[in-house]
Amino acid sequence: MQLDSGHDYKVFDEEKMEHIRKNFKGFEEPLIRLNPGGWVLPKEYLKFANKIYNFEIRDTDVMVMTFPKCGTTWAQEIIWTMRNSPNLDHPWASKPPLTRSPFMDYDMLMGKMPEPGSSAYPIYEMFLEMCPGKNPNDGINVQLAEYIPDPRTIKSHLPFSLMPPSMLDTAKVVYVARNPKDVIVSYHHFYKLMEETEFVGQLEDFLDLFVNDDLIYGPYWLHLKEAWERRDHPNLHIIFFEGVKENVLKELEKLNDFLGTNLTEEQLKGIAEYTSFENMRRRGNESREKNRPIKRAETEVSEEQKRKLEYVKKEGGFFRKGVVGDWKNRLTPEMSAKVDRWVRDHLSNLGVNFRYGIGH
Ligand code: A3P
Repeated sequence: MQLDSGHDYKVFDEEKMEHIRKNFKGFEEPLIRLNPGGWVLPKEYLKFANKIYNFEIRDTDVMVMTFPKCGTTWAQEIIWTMRNSPNLDHPWASKPPLTRSPFMDYDMLMGKMPEPGSSAYPIYEMFLEMCPGKNPNDGINVQLAEYIPDPRTIKSHLPFSLMPPSMLDTAKVVYVARNPKDVIVSYHHFYKLMEETEFVGQLEDFLDLFVNDDLIYGPYWLHLKEAWERRDHPNLHIIFFEGVKENVLKELEKLNDFLGTNLTEEQLKGIAEYTSFENMRRRGNESREKNRPIKRAETEVSEEQKRKLEYVKKEGGFFRKGVVGDWKNRLTPEMSAKVDRWVRDHLSNLGVNFRYGIGH
């Protein structure tokens, strides 16, 4: 089957899937690899691929594109707030980011329909409100992206080559990049948090999957390359997690120019504070508490859930650390050298200078 984007796909062979299933529990469905590019995606992607590729982009849209764990949620919150709630008073502001800034390729990852109390349930509620009469099996997120009122701020982790070809000439695109060592540590943590597809291998195994281009949304280097090659396009603005961390106001000023939002210095300062790691983590926790239907008694919590709660207590939840250079506490010198070799082999000719710490 050829997709509208011109890609063919192949299911991962059994040997590879066995390796994946050894490291992640719950990967029942095989992964696929799309060519050209070698993009790794769940098989469910095929159900939504053409819908996403043919998605009608409007000139008022802002697309937030990233490889996972590069600071997507942070950028979404900044951009959505700049465009919709510059005085921090929009009635939707307290809703979870993915309800008001839809993640258009999330449906392939969601698995079963969100249940009350799950973190994705507010998205389903928003879908019911925004898309009356629409069938959730046709994609909650992609349809939410379609029907959410303008101006839309839409998230995707897909690379440029799988997105609508007219996108960049039509809408504004903000691409967020982050150094691969922190991405590996953050992506590994993210999969440790997963319930359905928890990563149960070692960090080194995860790092190997990353550098071998075997993780969902990989290859990372090609994802970045496709954006970097378009960097002179007037509708593309590339930001680095490390740059925002170092001087958030400077980056907000650049975004203000790029998006044409005309916000004042005071408004930008307010948004910088509102989207700080601490504030976003606090709001994230509050919203999770609010959406949890019934607080279960201690005795009703399973051993599995207790183990997860212990992990979160020790290592953090979705908002883990939000810093630059935490990889230094996690990667051994050998692991770090492996990533350096991989960067040299795949990315050095692009001229992207990653910063692996603040100040260097
Ligand atoms: P860490 O795991 O290194 O803490 P994404 O949104 O693309 O999934 O990225 C998640 C990463 O961004 C996590 O990194 C998360 O803590 C960090 N992050 C989220 N909001 C942030 C904020 N306001 N400031 C700094 N980092 C943030």
